[in-house]
Amino acid sequence: MAVIQVGEDPASSIYVNNKKKACEETGMLSYGYHLPIETDEHDLLELIEQLNQDPSVHGILCQLPLPKQMNEFKIISSINPSKDVDGFHPVNVGLLTIGKDALVSCTPAGVIEMLKAYKIPLVGANCVIVGRSNIVGKPVAQLMLKEHATVTITHSRTKNLPAVCRQADILIAAIGKAEMITAEYVKPGAVVIDVGINRNAAGKVVGDVDFASVSPIAEAISPVPGGVGPMTIAMLLMNTFTAFQRIEGII
Ligand code: GUN
Repeated sequence: MAVIQVGEDPASSIYVNNKKKACEETGMLSYGYHLPIETDEHDLLELIEQLNQDPSVHGILCQLPLPKQMNEFKIISSINPSKDVDGFHPVNVGLLTIGKDALVSCTPAGVIEMLKAYKIPLVGANCVIVGRSNIVGKPVAQLMLKEHATVTITHSRTKNLPAVCRQADILIAAIGKAEMITAEYVKPGAVVIDVGINRNAAGKVVGDVDFASVSPIAEAISPVPGGVGPMTIAMLLMNTFTAFQRIEGII
């Protein structure tokens, strides 16, 4: 797996290190490319093209966010879709949308894997997603649809958000706002998946869900840290292994 980081965003550095460490622990080789923040877009495109052509590389990951001078869409689109282990390339997003085999975005894939591991019933379940990002909200909606859930995507303009959220059997919080989802948003007995990683006013790492008020009424709730985060890394390794097998003609 080739892991590219541009600049010094501290959160990105932690994520990238965790990803490289996970590769090593599972016996995959990882190549790290740490480029300065002022890197020209053209130079990054050239590096990606070199990795696209390199037969020893089966996965390419470009950590987001990228610096302002770079066009994120252009960079992601330049990755060979068969090596796009983040599942961000428009081809993989399109394949997911029409229900075909794709490299699926890691955090959404991790959410589904977690729900299945705990045998949470998905067929016909009312699933409310808070957040409509390309990385989490939209792809997790596609995956839940594939599992035959009834899906509602909500966002900052949704009217009466707490009431909509209270309809959920499964509530997925992916907003990026520390502890925004309080007990008022949760139906007693609901399953709550917290995708957020934020720092609260006290500097503590917390999710998008107010764990203290929600955990007493939820049937199940994923913690932050230690819930969805490790699942994202696991799915990244799965994607890399899948990409390897497809590229080498094993599957
Ligand atoms: N930035 C935040 N989450 C992610 C992720 O899953 N992959 C990449 N490449 N960048 C991110």
